[in-house]
Amino acid sequence: MRYLTFALAKGRLAKTSLGLFEKIGITCEEMKDKDTRKLIFTNEEQKLKFFLAKPSDVPTYVEYGAADIGIVGKDTLLEEGRRLYEVMDLGFGACRMCVCGPPEAKEMLSRNEIIRVATKYPGIAKDYFINQKNQTVEIIKLNGSVELAPIVGLSEVIVDIVETGSTLKENGLTVLEEICPLSARIVVNQVSHRMEHERISKFLTDLNKVLHEEA
Ligand code: PRP
Repeated sequence: MRYLTFALAKGRLAKTSLGLFEKIGITCEEMKDKDTRKLIFTNEEQKLKFFLAKPSDVPTYVEYGAADIGIVGKDTLLEEGRRLYEVMDLGFGACRMCVCGPPEAKEMLSRNEIIRVATKYPGIAKDYFINQKNQTVEIIKLNGSVELAPIVGLSEVIVDIVETGSTLKENGLTVLEEICPLSARIVVNQVSHRMEHERISKFLTDLNKVLHEEA
């Protein structure tokens, strides 16, 4: 039996995912060691391998088959646009992709003015403004703390993730338009989906059961 390899987006999603895996009998003791510098973890008995990756790299590993299965946020999937199968919405990590800014920017959006949009997600922002809203904008790519942009005058609005809304609130910003809901998703490599169909189906069925019990 060959190894089935999982790529998990580092951070909260990986933590929640591993908790869920434990409930369906998939364990990886090695991974629990917080001080380890190891990058890949193996469960010899179950013939499974796990690795943690930067969220935006997870779809790449899965598309190329370096991982059979990935767990990553829908935001990353939309932005990366990789060829893979999105097979399950895990429900956790729920948040929204929104256009945000100071309340005054609402009028600029409705007047269809050319505005500057700062974001970590240029692909999502471009698709939303150009293809869905038919509005010409200038997109400025940032790598974090995007809420700063309208405060310091880099852009009129931002496209960013809103979870609790507290970052916006604490910085005098608000949600102006909602683009789409987001949550953690399971993705599968297209070849693995065919070649390892039985093992992957069982994994998904088991996960589904646990998720429904919890709901
Ligand atoms: C994310 C996002 C917002 C914030 C939203 O940032 O980009 O800044 O969380 O959460 P809230 O609505 O609960 O306040 P993250 O913490 O991932 O860091 P970043 O600013 O470097 O992107």
